[in-house]
Amino acid sequence: MCGIVGAVAQSNIVPILLEGLKRLEYRGYDSCGVAVHTGTGLQRVRSTERVAELVTQIERDQVQGLTGIAHTRWATHGAPATRNAHPHFSGPGKGGARIALVHNGIIENHDALRAELQDAGYVFESQTDTEVIAHLVDHLYDGDLFAAVQQATTRLTGAYAIAVFCVDEPHRVVGARQGSPLVVGRSRQGNYLASDALALAGTTDQIVYLEDGDVVDLQLARIWIVDREGQPVEREVHTVHIHTGEAELGPYRHYMQKEIFEQPRAVGDTLQNIESISPELFGDQAYSVFKAIDRVLILACGTSYYAGLTARYWIEAVAGIPVNVEIASEYRYRRSVPDPRTLVVTISQSGETADTLAALKHARSLGMDQTLTICNVGTSAMVRECKLAFITRAGVEIGVASTKAFTTQLTALYLLTLALAQVNGRLDEAQEIQELKSLRHLPVAIGAVLALEPQIMAWADRFAGKENALFLGRGMHYPIALEGALKLKEISYIHAEAYPAGELKHGPLALVTDAMPVITIAPHDELLEKLKSNMQEVHARGGELYVFADADSHIGSSEGIHVIRMPEHYGRLSPILHTVPLQLLAYHTACARGTDVDKPRNLAKSVTVE
Ligand code: M6R
Repeated sequence: MCGIVGAVAQSNIVPILLEGLKRLEYRGYDSCGVAVHTGTGLQRVRSTERVAELVTQIERDQVQGLTGIAHTRWATHGAPATRNAHPHFSGPGKGGARIALVHNGIIENHDALRAELQDAGYVFESQTDTEVIAHLVDHLYDGDLFAAVQQATTRLTGAYAIAVFCVDEPHRVVGARQGSPLVVGRSRQGNYLASDALALAGTTDQIVYLEDGDVVDLQLARIWIVDREGQPVEREVHTVHIHTGEAELGPYRHYMQKEIFEQPRAVGDTLQNIESISPELFGDQAYSVFKAIDRVLILACGTSYYAGLTARYWIEAVAGIPVNVEIASEYRYRRSVPDPRTLVVTISQSGETADTLAALKHARSLGMDQTLTICNVGTSAMVRECKLAFITRAGVEIGVASTKAFTTQLTALYLLTLALAQVNGRLDEAQEIQELKSLRHLPVAIGAVLALEPQIMAWADRFAGKENALFLGRGMHYPIALEGALKLKEISYIHAEAYPAGELKHGPLALVTDAMPVITIAPHDELLEKLKSNMQEVHARGGELYVFADADSHIGSSEGIHVIRMPEHYGRLSPILHTVPLQLLAYHTACARGTDVDKPRNLAKSVTVE
């Protein structure tokens, strides 16, 4: 999704802007651009190609400056085209324009503002909502960019993070945020703005997280922040260590493959230092919070939502607490029945997903303020907004398709299940020791599943020619089937659907022919015999079954039934193991089809707009 970098420094800021854009590339974008103050005017370069192409253009044009802004755009209003790419310019000035602006988010009242600004004589060059803000700032400009931006933001409805500079004020960048993330970075050499601290890694580790309603004035020797009431505010400076080495591909072909193979390490790190189960794993106040709740409401999107669906099986069965799991974008607009004795759990890799953040705020507005997040980014808005937090230690996830984030979320949710069970008197010491033993063995068990890659690659070659696939699972493996189908569709573009296997005969069985591969998750659990009957329903209709079966489930290969043998059944943690072959299947199928695995079409890594 869109990314912002801005800088005011003592020396040429173009390399910092470009490095920032490269670091934000993984979020997904379809155009990019840079604008600088050259000392005499504004200069802009935009491209609908990759950042590497923008770099070539910038080198060719010898673009340099001490003040500038840069952007990666993920189209919402207007097609991916150069005229729609940011930065947008406005007003008459030296070099043809006065104001340069980049924007993340969506301005909901852009139509009304556009009409008003057109009446005032502004001519629009793009179809974007962003150009409206550039013209609005120019319209309100009276010699003080900060004042103009402050006034402009009072007219905007929707979500935004913006960075703006003006030809008449060469050493100043003004930023503002509402609903979309924006951070300030400071260093001796200069001050910076970015939509994600990651963009500034290698430039500074001194990061200030702006809050909704903040407007910031960035000059060489000054960072001045006011809140939505216009009152000056001090925001805490965080030292943020970002391990840039994680962005290296190493021996892998894609980040997704690297991240799949990092899972033993990621799960191991997530469990690191956990000697015993206790509510405090989730924060100092967790015991009193867990004591004060009778139910759990999980809010999340996409893969994180499937982690929540899996957790429902665990929490209800082990801790005996009723759980509701809701897609965040639905929950936030649904008239639901709130219960103040609810633990609201958000799950998010990025911690910046707009729908999940809005759902959290909605739950709080209904009086449910016992909040916990399971999140991979410790400095994210989600962590700052929730009373309790558990930070998964997956490390930076670059592939758009979530892999290690999901398995570490499941690990964290299993720990939550055990902590809730303990508080409810449903986990004795012997059980705790046994559970910890299984958890600690997980990295090794995942390693054993990864060793199945060559067999899965052979299947992937066959899948590459398919256009549809069905995924089946039962019980707590049904959400894993959903996750497997999502992985396959998002990176290979094969249409895939997942069903609880018992639902087949209620409709989807009509789709089964010899052209339809049916991927089946077959753990050796209490539902295995039921699942075998469902497999027979497929087999009898000529469907081709591809089965991931636990070694002890006694399912053999035969005509129309292909089996890859997993390790022995891993009890309640089995969903974590059964996720891994589905990731590998999607990955190798996508490779065989030649898609852009790490940056699938139309998708973004961090979905910061509604
Ligand atoms: O950062 P989040 O976990 O909140 O993101 C939620 C979804 O956008 C994300 O899981 C998405 O579904 C993944 N691309 C799936 O692989």
